[in-house]
Amino acid sequence: MAAKALPDFVDRILITEEQLQGRVTEMAAEIVRSFGELESHLTLVPILHGSLIFLADLMRRMPVKMELGLLTVSSYPGTATASTGAPEILMDVAIDLKGRDVLLIDDILDTGRTLRKVTQRLQRKGLRRLKIATLLRKPTKAPPELIVDFVGFDIEDAFVVGYGLDYNNYYRNLPYIAVLKEGAVGGA
Ligand code: IMP
Ligand code: MG
Repeated sequence: MAAKALPDFVDRILITEEQLQGRVTEMAAEIVRSFGELESHLTLVPILHGSLIFLADLMRRMPVKMELGLLTVSSYPGTATASTGAPEILMDVAIDLKGRDVLLIDDILDTGRTLRKVTQRLQRKGLRRLKIATLLRKPTKAPPELIVDFVGFDIEDAFVVGYGLDYNNYYRNLPYIAVLKEGAVGGA
């Protein structure tokens, strides 16, 4: 049987659907174990929009009492595939995080600017504990001093899409993580 053709904007699949599901299941268990006794419940703070699908899969595998506090950070401008300047917090968490056990969730740690900005903001809110989970990390670029507690996969320094990650706000619905084809970049 012939292999299913990939969409024309996909160069190659980096992480399959099965690999994602397996690792997210492991991460959920690691996170629950690591928090241990909770003050009252866990507060998940996903950085939107990129962490949307990771969040949805992760939270359904965490059998603890939890609530959500959504946070939106400005993404790359338009068709760029490299971060430029300082990320802006467009929508801050609407619930009170004082004294809370918080898990910050991001899709990918690239230059680390986004996570640095967001953790600085959260640390001013008097949390009980803050831990960070990121699905992907580009270790050749991520600053070594930026410690994340849970990492799904370390990947090469390529621009990836799918499973929530976008290019120009497209391709988030791919069920796998794929490297975007060179020609697709800049085309729009
Ligand atoms: P950082 O601030 O440079 O660490 O970038 C983090 C944000 O940039 C992520 O939350 C993503 O939204 C975006 N990003 C970084 N690398 C990629 C990529 O390869 N594909 C899609 N989005 C990316
Ligand atoms: Mg993005």
